Amino acid sequence: MQVNTIGVITSGGDAPGMNAAIRSIVRTAKYYNLRAVGINKGFKGLVHGDIREFTARDVSDILGRGGTILQTARCPEFLDIEVKKVAIDMARYHNIDSVVVIGGDGSFRGAKSLCELGLPAIGIPATIDNDINCSDYSIGFDTAINTAMQAVDKIRDTATSHERCNIIEVMGRASGAIAIQVAIACGAEAVFIPEMTEEERPDIIKVITDGIKRNKQHFIVVVAEGVGHSNELCEFIQSQTGIVTRVNTLGYMQRGGSPTVMDRVIAAQMGEYAVELLIHGVSNRIVGMKNNRVYDIDIFEGLEQQKEVRRDLIELANKLSV
Ligand code: F6P
Repeated sequence: MQVNTIGVITSGGDAPGMNAAIRSIVRTAKYYNLRAVGINKGFKGLVHGDIREFTARDVSDILGRGGTILQTARCPEFLDIEVKKVAIDMARYHNIDSVVVIGGDGSFRGAKSLCELGLPAIGIPATIDNDINCSDYSIGFDTAINTAMQAVDKIRDTATSHERCNIIEVMGRASGAIAIQVAIACGAEAVFIPEMTEEERPDIIKVITDGIKRNKQHFIVVVAEGVGHSNELCEFIQSQTGIVTRVNTLGYMQRGGSPTVMDRVIAAQMGEYAVELLIHGVSNRIVGMKNNRVYDIDIFEGLEQQKEVRRDLIELANKLSV
């Protein structure tokens, strides 16, 4: 099928670098004399026809901006087949013959439904959680871990001054990817992530009491959001060790901010790759990273893959915390 108009959607939680991906898709489309349109506010925008024309100039000066100029939304009503059919009709009405969906797993499930109903779609992974099964990397992760690292470094300064323990809760509902990287980068005394086995989970009271004996000045404990119970952990540490303990939830600051070089460059590569797939008549794929190379995989197959947790990094974090 000949592609003429590419619709761009950002969906799910936003991630720094989404704008760089939008820019790359639009500019690559323009390079090949194709029409590009932006679909606002995720799949909701497709259902409601909230669609805008994109010129190459419309995506100027967005590379360095966090968030997404198209805005995003979670769209639970898109599970309904009748709603999906409205989206397909709306795409036809706007002469959209293919879409590129930038987002996470949930967004790819939406893209898969479009494919099943006959609208060619490509997914580009973008989520700070870096939990897309078929891709080693998701746009936004590098920026998020750098933001979290800087925050933890600052918290460590005050933890040392006061000889306190600080629990830092980072994002990741089902994934400990941010937590484990930040823990290693910041030399945390302990880290807790949802994927840990019983044996991998640190004995936090022993870690702290041993550390006090070795004259440690502060204790940084990184907890992934999916583990939760940070306030209970705080009370437990304080009551069992006597060390003053505080909880810091970094929250949405991790999703914002100007994307790093890595996120901008990978977004540029993935955007170009997605458009070129469509030009070559290939669709229903997820664009991903494997071994530092952009590649593509069937959307059905990609969604079924299981992401392996980095057990080597869990071991490393535990090893270096002595
Ligand atoms: O986008 C991923 C993520 O930031 C998770 O880490 C977090 O659990 C979730 O989104 C929060 O979602 P919402 O924006 O719906 O509060």
